[in-house]
Amino acid sequence: MLYHLLFYTVFTFKVTNSFPSVQPVLCHDDESSALLQFKQNFAIKKFASDYFPSHPKTVSWIPKTDCCSWDGVECDDQTGHVIGLDLSSSQLYGSIGSNSSLFHLSQLQRLNLSHNHFNYSPIPSTLAHLSRLTHLDLSYSMFSGEIPKEISQLSKLLILDLCCNYVSSFPETNLLQLKQQNLRSMIQNITNLQVLYLCFVNISSPVPNTLSNVSSLHVLCLRSSGMYGDFPIGIFHLPNLRYLEVGDNKGLTGYLPEFHSSGALYYLGLQSTSFQGKLPASLGNLNAFKVLAIRQCQFSGSIPSSLSNLTQLMVLDLAYNHFKGNLTSSLSNLTQLGVLSVGRNDITSKDISWIGKLNRLYSLDLSNVNIGSEIPNSFVNLTQLTTFAIEYGNLVGQIPSWIMNFTHLRNLDLSNNKLHGKLPHSIFSLGNLSVLYLCSNFLVGQFELNMIF
Ligand SMILES: *[C@@H]1O[C@H](CO)[C@@H](O)[C@H](O)[C@H]1NC(C)=O
Ligand SMILES: *[C@@H]1O[C@H](CO)[C@@H](O)[C@H](O)[C@H]1NC(C)=O
Ligand SMILES: *[C@@H]1O[C@H](CO)[C@@H](O)[C@H](O)[C@H]1NC(C)=O
Ligand SMILES: *[C@@H]1O[C@H](CO)[C@@H](O)[C@H](O)[C@H]1NC(C)=O
Ligand SMILES: *[C@@H]1O[C@H](CO)[C@@H](O)[C@H](O)[C@H]1NC(C)=O
Ligand SMILES: *[C@@H]1O[C@H](CO)[C@@H](O)[C@H](O)[C@H]1NC(C)=O
Ligand SMILES: *[C@@H]1O[C@H](CO)[C@@H](O)[C@H](O)[C@H]1NC(C)=O
Ligand SMILES: *[C@@H]1O[C@H](CO)[C@@H](O)[C@H](O)[C@H]1NC(C)=O
Ligand SMILES: *[C@@H]1O[C@H](CO)[C@@H](O)[C@H](O)[C@H]1NC(C)=O
Ligand SMILES: *[C@@H]1O[C@H](CO)[C@@H](O)[C@H](O)[C@H]1NC(C)=O
Ligand SMILES: *[C@@H]1O[C@H](CO)[C@@H](O)[C@H](O)[C@H]1NC(C)=O
Repeated sequence: MLYHLLFYTVFTFKVTNSFPSVQPVLCHDDESSALLQFKQNFAIKKFASDYFPSHPKTVSWIPKTDCCSWDGVECDDQTGHVIGLDLSSSQLYGSIGSNSSLFHLSQLQRLNLSHNHFNYSPIPSTLAHLSRLTHLDLSYSMFSGEIPKEISQLSKLLILDLCCNYVSSFPETNLLQLKQQNLRSMIQNITNLQVLYLCFVNISSPVPNTLSNVSSLHVLCLRSSGMYGDFPIGIFHLPNLRYLEVGDNKGLTGYLPEFHSSGALYYLGLQSTSFQGKLPASLGNLNAFKVLAIRQCQFSGSIPSSLSNLTQLMVLDLAYNHFKGNLTSSLSNLTQLGVLSVGRNDITSKDISWIGKLNRLYSLDLSNVNIGSEIPNSFVNLTQLTTFAIEYGNLVGQIPSWIMNFTHLRNLDLSNNKLHGKLPHSIFSLGNLSVLYLCSNFLVGQFELNMIF
């Protein structure tokens, strides 16, 4: 206690001596009133932020108190100017007009309005007045219409997130649109961009080549944006790229290059595109890799055994492609795998018992893999499975009784095999089961309909 008192006194003494004028810096009046005016434009509605836990931050904004202490407001220590505004998940409902007082906060560097409901209003072009912005997050916030070209004037942006402005039950209705030439000038003018989320923005154009020159880029998402044409191969070689998601663009073609150095890439999402060609063996060099999601593309060739190098891999989804050859135990070292999905290719695997070692799997799809043996006993430990699908697997033998230990199971598809014997009674005790396909086997037994219901 004494020590603290002493320290405090000395400290105060020092401060008052060397900086006699230092006072706690308070919020500027004009910024305070701009915030209060902004607050007035919105109703607080729970449904406006219904995804994550939400909290109406602006309720703590009370006139004649220091705005730097308000929830979601961050001020500069030295100047007292508002430099950060985080109103994510704040239950704001209403429109933001181009004359909004928000745009008077000229010192703002970080603005997060994600997870609110801005009532389908357009993103105002006056946003460009906030020329110091480095972080801008307008995701999940029900903006609609054309993204204004003036956004490319925000040349200091490091993070730009305009993702996912859609009506929640219809993700294919992209509310925001971005003209190709505006995307181009954005890329040209915002030279230090690290994170660019334009997923679910209707762009409907080819991917600009110039993206390959944004060497600062870490994260790029163009998922479900109507991109088409050849994907610029240079993007894969961006030195800092860690996360690349361009899935759900059916018209997008491309192939994977050789990966010569280890690189930072850990997430690659190409599902439902028209990417084709082989998986290069050099993928095995990307030792940070966690997610390889290339379901429903046009890939062919064999599954390279070098994937066994990717020991951090958590998702390997190769389903619905044209892969051929053997699925071998070389992947048995991928013990972090949660998703192993190789179904709907032209693959053979005479021995799948090694998969039983992957006891973190929660989704296993081996449909159309020519197995030709029993469900191995080693699978007894795959108790985390929620999806277990081996349709058309040429399986023989019986359904093991230990399947009753798969209590998380939601989808079980063992249809179109040569399974025989009694349907284990225990299947009907799986309380989470909602999809069960067993047709086209030689199974006998009774369906316990009352237990299913
Ligand atoms: C905005 O807020 C959300 C929710 O708190 C957070 O997940 C997101 O990372 C924030 N965006 C930025 C750019 O910091
Ligand atoms: C913005 O302009 C509209 C009319 O165009 C007006 O109704 C509204 O009060 C103005 N809002 C602010 C914050 O000035
Ligand atoms: C590029 O950014 C500067 C400000 O840094 C701005 O003056 C200029 O208008 C911007 N160009 C485009 C095409 O937006
Ligand atoms: C994207 O915009 C184009 C042109 O405005 C339109 O024809 C198309 O339906 C839109 N697509 C989506 C997914 O909104
Ligand atoms: C990338 O930048 C270099 C040097 O500035 C330039 O020569 C090249 O044309 C640019 N490439 C693209 C695709 O813009
Ligand atoms: C596996 O990774 C090491 C470095 O981590 C690398 O030297 C080796 O070439 C990789 N093997 C394959 C088959 O990619
Ligand atoms: C697949 O493995 C079998 C032996 O299990 C072997 O005879 C066959 O040549 C292999 N096929 C390929 C394409 O590697
Ligand atoms: C799995 O890893 C062990 C040690 O890390 C190594 O000795 C073995 O060769 C690997 N197996 C395969 C199939 O890659
Ligand atoms: C299942 O896990 C138990 C406990 O970790 C282990 O003793 C057993 O050998 C495993 N069974 C199989 C078939 O891998
Ligand atoms: C199923 O789980 C129970 C309880 O965890 C365990 O005692 C039993 O041995 C398991 N059955 C099989 C076949 O592994
Ligand atoms: C259903 O699954 C959840 C977790 O996925 C688990 O906690 C729960 O025990 C399961 N319910 C039944 C009835 O097995």
